[in-house]
Amino acid sequence: MLLKDAGKTADEIRALVKKYMIETYERYDFICERVEGMYLYNEKGEGYLDFYGGIAVNSTGNRNPKVVAAAKEQLDHVIHTFNYPYTIPQALLAEKVCTLLGYDKIFYQNSGTEANEAMIKMARKYGIEKYGPERYHIITAKNSFHGRTMGSLAATGQPQSACHIGFGPMLPGFSYAEFNNVEAFKAQITPNTIAIMLELVQGEGGVNSATPEFVEGIRKLCADNKLLFLVDEIQTGWCRTGKVMAYEHYGFKPDILSMAKAIGGGMPIGAIVTSSEIAKAFNPGSHGTTYGGNSVACAAALAQVNELIDNDLAGKAEKVGAYFMNKLRTLPRIKEVRGKGFLVGVEFIDPIGLDVKHGCFDRKMLVTLIGKNLIRMIPPLIATEADCDKAVEILRASIEAVKA
Ligand SMILES: Cc1ncc(COP(=O)(O)O)c(C=O)c1O
Repeated sequence: MLLKDAGKTADEIRALVKKYMIETYERYDFICERVEGMYLYNEKGEGYLDFYGGIAVNSTGNRNPKVVAAAKEQLDHVIHTFNYPYTIPQALLAEKVCTLLGYDKIFYQNSGTEANEAMIKMARKYGIEKYGPERYHIITAKNSFHGRTMGSLAATGQPQSACHIGFGPMLPGFSYAEFNNVEAFKAQITPNTIAIMLELVQGEGGVNSATPEFVEGIRKLCADNKLLFLVDEIQTGWCRTGKVMAYEHYGFKPDILSMAKAIGGGMPIGAIVTSSEIAKAFNPGSHGTTYGGNSVACAAALAQVNELIDNDLAGKAEKVGAYFMNKLRTLPRIKEVRGKGFLVGVEFIDPIGLDVKHGCFDRKMLVTLIGKNLIRMIPPLIATEADCDKAVEILRASIEAVKA
């Protein structure tokens, strides 16, 4: 919808949002009327260079034409049915994802947090049915982020942060151990533990990559203790880190994997994939969803996955992401540039993150801030070296503009 169709001015839209919406976000202060490729356009038609990708969602570019066409085409046939009839996009997407990743089964959800709820519920039910009623505990990493519904929130290892505080007791059955510390995880294992759940690069936690030794150690702990290895690839998945899935960097395969964000190309969809054996934990009545597997979302996701794979966006993320990170290392006031592929964090030596983020906005580039010192960039994976050069120069000007 455009302002002219709504019969409103930009200021009137801002006022309506402020008056009626419960606001929990620090907004970019413009009305986004149109998006395309690497740009979001404001009400004046001015383009903003997209280095946040709708938080790792718009990986094939904003409004990728093939994703748009697939969604539009599906809107003409079936929008929503609930999961009673078979639908064609569900079936084709299931085949595509399972064969591509080498899993037997998929379950669709609507979002990342819901995909993690499904993963947690499946692990718990599998453990309880196979080993007994107490075998449902899950160990996750400190500083992890798994979502904001009560199960995923309890899995999120940030008990002192705003996302936990004030919401009363968390769901029991979770404990947290230091990321990249195998001994810390080992120390948390009890006879009631059924799984270890990790992000392989902590996104919201500050772009922290798991070391190969850590992942190998966790894999071994899981094998030795009959634990499931659950991996949350909601942010890292679908080519973001330079592989289709981040677990490929580490040479193992998760028992259950959750995904969302980039698979939908902007349509809300999440999913878990697993083996036939573990999938048996879910049977009629045990789990379900009204919208999960929605026809339009699945049709868009199928087009998105084809675009990601056919254009080798994993390879591009690896190559152009490395180019970007090397250029970022030439910036002033940098403590560390880290990440994998196009999941990139720039940490400053001092707390100038908010000023830099605002400086980028003033210079028409969109980035995200984590804490006070870290700018995270998760652009569409179609970003070119020229886009990266532009981003680095905007960052440089924004950093230099902040008083020492
Ligand atoms: C690793 C990870 N898990 C889960 C989530 C939650 O996903 P959603 O916001 O779609 O519920 C996020 C969102 O940022 C995430 O980065």
